[in-house]
Amino acid sequence: MAMREKIEQAAARYPDQRSAIMPALLIAQREHGHLPGPVLEEVADILGVERIWVYELATFYTLFHTEPVGKFHLQLCDNVSCMLRRSEDLLTHLENVLGIKKGGTTGDGLFTLSTVECLGACEMAPVMQVGDDYHGNLDIERIDALLARLRAMVPHAAGADLAAVEPPGE
Ligand code: FES
Repeated sequence: MAMREKIEQAAARYPDQRSAIMPALLIAQREHGHLPGPVLEEVADILGVERIWVYELATFYTLFHTEPVGKFHLQLCDNVSCMLRRSEDLLTHLENVLGIKKGGTTGDGLFTLSTVECLGACEMAPVMQVGDDYHGNLDIERIDALLARLRAMVPHAAGADLAAVEPPGE
């Protein structure tokens, strides 16, 4: 089913098309991987809403990406509970082992590293979201094991088609 059709189908459940912007953006992001300007305009046109409304939501929520992200988007919480349980050390470790800074993407397109606000899972701080999955009570060993599991999901052959690999929970 084409993106337009999927968005129209989802939007039919909402009496006010403005309420359908979030589900429409999720559909568009699943389709394109991220949400560049032309895609945001297309979403607004399909729903018949102001483009600025679509842009506002797409740039406010961290679950939407207006720039391309790696196959696995590592979103480490750095809010109070996680910070108190040393999320900063985990960030430094991730930056070191991945060879990128916060906000960067590895050269092989596998990992993008971000920090995010409270993920609502403070009881298992420090927490990191990858796709739709939460990973809690993290320490450096668990981070390394998680990275190894994620890497194992991707064929190691050079030139592997990363687009063919589904990220967890997405
Ligand atoms: Fe990190 Fe709430 S502060 S999950």
